[in-house]
Amino acid sequence: MATLIQNGTLITASETIQADILIEGETIRAVLAPGSDFSHTEHLDIVNAAGKFITPGGIDPHCHFDLPMFGTVSSDDHYTGHKAAAFGGTTTVMDFVVHEPKGFRYSVERWLEKAEKAAIDYSFHMNLTRFDEQVAAEIPLLPEMGITTLKVFTAYNGRLRLDDGSIFQALQIARENGMLVMAHCENGDVIETLVAEAQNARRTAPEWHAHTRPAWGAIEATLRLAAMSKQADAPVYIVHMNAGGEADMLTYARQHGAPVMGETCPQYLFFTLEHLQRPDGAKWICSPPMRSAEDNARLWQALKNDEIQTIGTDHCPFFFDGTKPIVYEGQEVAIPGKELGKDDFTKIPNGLPGVQDRLPVLWTYGVRAGKITPNQFVALTSTNPAKIFGLYPRKGALLPGSDADLVIWDPEKTVKYGVAWSHQRTDYNLYEGWELTGYPEKVFLRGKLIVDGEHWLGTRGGGQFLKRSQGQVI
Ligand code: URP
Ligand code: ZN
Ligand code: ZN
Repeated sequence: MATLIQNGTLITASETIQADILIEGETIRAVLAPGSDFSHTEHLDIVNAAGKFITPGGIDPHCHFDLPMFGTVSSDDHYTGHKAAAFGGTTTVMDFVVHEPKGFRYSVERWLEKAEKAAIDYSFHMNLTRFDEQVAAEIPLLPEMGITTLKVFTAYNGRLRLDDGSIFQALQIARENGMLVMAHCENGDVIETLVAEAQNARRTAPEWHAHTRPAWGAIEATLRLAAMSKQADAPVYIVHMNAGGEADMLTYARQHGAPVMGETCPQYLFFTLEHLQRPDGAKWICSPPMRSAEDNARLWQALKNDEIQTIGTDHCPFFFDGTKPIVYEGQEVAIPGKELGKDDFTKIPNGLPGVQDRLPVLWTYGVRAGKITPNQFVALTSTNPAKIFGLYPRKGALLPGSDADLVIWDPEKTVKYGVAWSHQRTDYNLYEGWELTGYPEKVFLRGKLIVDGEHWLGTRGGGQFLKRSQGQVI
């Protein structure tokens, strides 16, 4: 069976062109001038995309599905989160495997079991949250499992954090094995001290989450990791960049030859400490926290100037009030969430929904607002993640031979966005009431139409695990 998508405007990371796309089976067979003769192709389904934009399927390199935290679990699993992603135009997601004491192979096998219900294509990063000789010896086994990335943390003392010496050794091993280290950059020791002070002073409101995790800690830790990257000659990817100063550090390090790259997330472009000061401020609690309007502006500038390479989401949703069920696919669901910390900000599960929101919100408030170009939008949300994480050109491209993962956008569709619109399995949306212009209309995963307007045509188990190869430093 073949599908011809005719008369669309293709937007890629490098150009915007009028073209027809021929899909055969799971891949793109040809990208041809409009009006090309396909009369010789049998069983051809024709999709008329006149007046529509076509982009490669989005790639979200930073999600947390079914992640245990603070006695509960992130409320999207590998089916519901994937379905939400697809409705927002994302066809590949990567989430993080919890590092179990029984080792990497055991940890990955458990995560693969969770992901059997996958609805879009997916891959994993491996958290590295303990380090000794045995763990060091296990790292080279990961690429054989298709996992070429490790995430390290400079915060969450006593839980996830590694000391600098261990991080440096991990970088050396990663370099030897063609792997990329991803880094969560904050200062764990400063955070511990400030949290203890806040608790002693009975400062319990959500805004204290931000006051106890200062931007300077993120800035300093970003430079620390960038400096280690240069000293170990090993690539590093700074996740969820949130402070303008981190962009300054990243640019300084790249200008001085460090193989370091960075990711920001929509929440750090649109929201500030003031959102944490609202009565429902817990909705905005994630780590690192929201910063200032100046930080938002510097991050936008860094995107415009190609200083930051990707936009992920750090999708890690929790219910705002997990005592009240919502209806999801006809079933009532309630999962304990932010209410767990109503009297103590340290007990509020850290994380936000966003996997569906990312592309439509960035289209309206990034591209249409003139902050980034349409081609930068595709580079930041699809092509660059594919290159950095070893999936290009299978993913992130509209090229002959690439997987036929693509999104047909209706550029005129207007949406009053919010929780009623979203398929994210939670009871709130950060972009409630935002007016969007331009929305994904049809989404194809490896040639199969999985979203058609408001209809879900995808399936549990329809997503494939992607074994990744060594990525590029871009
Ligand atoms: O608050 C967040 N970001 N939760 C997910 C874990 C992480 O550090 O990325
Ligand atoms: Zn993190
Ligand atoms: Zn994260």
